[in-house]
Amino acid sequence: MERIRSRISGTGHSLPSRILTNLDLEKMVDTSDEWITTRTGIRERRISAENEYLSLFAADAARKAMDMAGITGEDLGLIVIATVTPDQPIPSTACFVQDAIKAPNAAAFDMQAGCSGFIYALTVADNFIRMGSVKHALVIGGELLSKYVDWKDRATCVLFADGAGAVILSAEENGRGVLSSAIHADGSMADFITLPGGGSRIPVSHEMIDHNLHTIKMRGNETFKIAVRSLEAVCREAIEQASLKPSDVRWFVPHQANLRIINAVAGRLGWPPESIYLNIDRIGNTSAASIPIALDELVRSGKVQPNEILLFAAFGAGLTWGSALVRW
Ligand code: ACO
Repeated sequence: MERIRSRISGTGHSLPSRILTNLDLEKMVDTSDEWITTRTGIRERRISAENEYLSLFAADAARKAMDMAGITGEDLGLIVIATVTPDQPIPSTACFVQDAIKAPNAAAFDMQAGCSGFIYALTVADNFIRMGSVKHALVIGGELLSKYVDWKDRATCVLFADGAGAVILSAEENGRGVLSSAIHADGSMADFITLPGGGSRIPVSHEMIDHNLHTIKMRGNETFKIAVRSLEAVCREAIEQASLKPSDVRWFVPHQANLRIINAVAGRLGWPPESIYLNIDRIGNTSAASIPIALDELVRSGKVQPNEILLFAAFGAGLTWGSALVRW
């Protein structure tokens, strides 16, 4: 008998309708479409409206994923949302989503691991499923980073964007689903990507805002170099754990932080361009939402065939990084 695995039985995503292009950004900060395109691969991104908040997009993505899986909220035993941009500090955004999608039987909590959040949340939910304690789990990566960006800082405001993606994990014994995952962290590089204010260390105050500590800061170039090395290693780790080879991977679905990082990692692993799923040009860096948004687009394009191997990989604040290998 096959052992229980977490099959991805449904996917969904949700984006704000407003598009912000590189040309729009040229009018806001000292930048150019040419710089942003060649350094990052981003051409446009989605930005939420003032009255929109994360749980609206998270619940919309969740409903689409449940529809694809053929389940209702009542069937869910667990909801995990990876985010650094919750609706509010208390309660968790997962509880708002649980209420919105009518999932009274689901335990619900948020977790954060920066841009690696979706891989972390997937790994946590996968463990619940493989333990046999949950039959269907909802895993969401969602961010409204535009609300935390310093719109005067050209080094970060051209990168970050908004959106949410969701997957349903269902317990099955047919050999399909999550085969392996690897998650890592190194807090000694915590200051590479931060939002310093608003927590218990630097509580909300007028002074905190005057010092601009309520917005995201990133040491981009240093992060870049570590990202490529760590992503390559963690991709190999998940592949080896499953006793497979890099050439067994049909679809590489990476966190869409920077096209140059993605291409460097794919090049080191020998993956051809047609095996890499990219939407960074239209979606930008949506942190924890990035992989589930990309996955949903890929799945709904109809290109993924049963039993094909997919690899997800992400790197971000913490620093954190991780990968997950899935048999579709
Ligand atoms: N427009 C024009 N010039 C710019 C811009 C801009 N938007 N931003 C920076 N520059 C300038 C800099 O000031 C610098 O100028 P200088 O040489 O005169 O000092 C020059 O461009 C080069 O800057 P670098 O930071 O060295 O540029 P780099 O090629 O490294 O690209 C980038 C920057 C895109 C941020 C890249 O380093 C990157 O993608 N890093 C990794 C980000 C990442 O993966 N983060 C993890 C996920 S995010 C998360 O967890 C929330």
